[in-house]
Amino acid sequence: MNDCILISGGAGFIGSHVVRLFVTKYPETLILNVDKLTYAGNLKNLSDIENRKNYKFLKADIVDPEEMKRIIRENKVTGIIHLAAESHVDRSISDPFTFAKTNVLGTLSLLAAAKEFWETLPEKYEDKLFYHVSTDEVYGALEITTPEGGQAPFRTSASSENNVAYGTDFFVEETKYDPHSPYSASKASSDHFVRAYHDTYGLPTIITNCSNNYGPYQFPEKLIPLFINNILNNKPLPVYGKGENVRDWLYVEDHARAIDLIFHKGKPGETYNIGGFNEWRNIDLIKTIIKTVDRLTGKPEGSSNHLITFVTDRPGHDMRYAIDSRKLQRELGWEPSLQFEEGIEKTVKWYLDNPEWVNEITSGNYQQYYEQMYKNR
Ligand code: NAD
Ligand code: DAU
Repeated sequence: MNDCILISGGAGFIGSHVVRLFVTKYPETLILNVDKLTYAGNLKNLSDIENRKNYKFLKADIVDPEEMKRIIRENKVTGIIHLAAESHVDRSISDPFTFAKTNVLGTLSLLAAAKEFWETLPEKYEDKLFYHVSTDEVYGALEITTPEGGQAPFRTSASSENNVAYGTDFFVEETKYDPHSPYSASKASSDHFVRAYHDTYGLPTIITNCSNNYGPYQFPEKLIPLFINNILNNKPLPVYGKGENVRDWLYVEDHARAIDLIFHKGKPGETYNIGGFNEWRNIDLIKTIIKTVDRLTGKPEGSSNHLITFVTDRPGHDMRYAIDSRKLQRELGWEPSLQFEEGIEKTVKWYLDNPEWVNEITSGNYQQYYEQMYKNR
């Protein structure tokens, strides 16, 4: 093998798509998936590539700096793509400490381990990269300032056919950080540590801030998979507040492709925003999900609308996120591949075709997979 790229959090939703892309596209590079397998980590997300010769899995906690140093040294890691994190906003509201520990201390321990190993090499930081995957939530919340149906000023191939912008401002790379939830505060803090390692020690780092992802293998606590699963099981759909909050949605494989491009062509020290100019009000998205699930399961259109249940709002619920990704398009030529309506159709079909994946999560069985497959390897 030429090189070793460590991908942290590779058993999670986005991480598993990044691991699959890299293992398939770079057969001469060892792809080392380091994951603690928390409730959100599921090795079944990678069962199709787990026997490839350039893939290796290690169960480890990124919060442990000595363990990270050992892993990086023993595997001669030359690049890191850091995705491991606690990622669910609602969990951060009930358990902020775990978020600070994993997202802040975990990132710091990986940074310190990379620095220590790379400084021992004759070529030091040359051809090395610490790529930190962050979120648009660090920028805070935008207001809804345009009337419904407002003309969207920008489009990409990910934009919905009925592309609407719910405001005139967007998050750019220079937008001042203003996190509101314990989750976004912990991600913002981890971003600051990454920049501090670049500015203080010269560690080659890149940070990307991406909008909401959707697609196969997303843990069914997040809006889209939770609602698909609830519709299939005729359970209530808990819409926070009035359902007027706006999110900017990107198909997960397009995020993985952006990470690949930026990892190989991006400029160390830079930040890139990733998003598809695809804003949706929650309630409109939910109606689209209902329509798609009903159609694909042979029910009359809208027959699951009665499941919509308005519930108490999420505390500190950010009103609108909208990413301006024109720097990435302009400098590296990235374009999303999938239009939103196609992406939702593909996602619903995947959940319909893989009921055992969701059932194993709801029954808790997925957590035994590591014991069966990996313990004695
Ligand atoms: P996820 O919750 O699905 O997966 C997180 C993974 O990290 C899991 O496999 C988990 O086991 C692992 N992990 C957690 N704590 C760990 C620890 N201490 N040591 C080692 N591994 C640990 O998350 P996701 O939605 O795939 O998000 C991945 C990354 O992308 C996160 O950093 C998140 O902040 C960021 N992000 C997510 C989105 C989104 O819409 N999901 C958007 C932008 C950015
Ligand atoms: O913007 C990027 C972020 O997107 C990532 O950094 C996070 O890791 C990821 O979880 C996601 O955060 P959100 O809070 O936007 O995603 P979530 O799926 O939890 O919620 C999407 C919207 O739907 C949000 O406005 C809250 C609302 N919602 C969510 C759930 C789970 C509901 O109305 N009901 C629900 O049951």
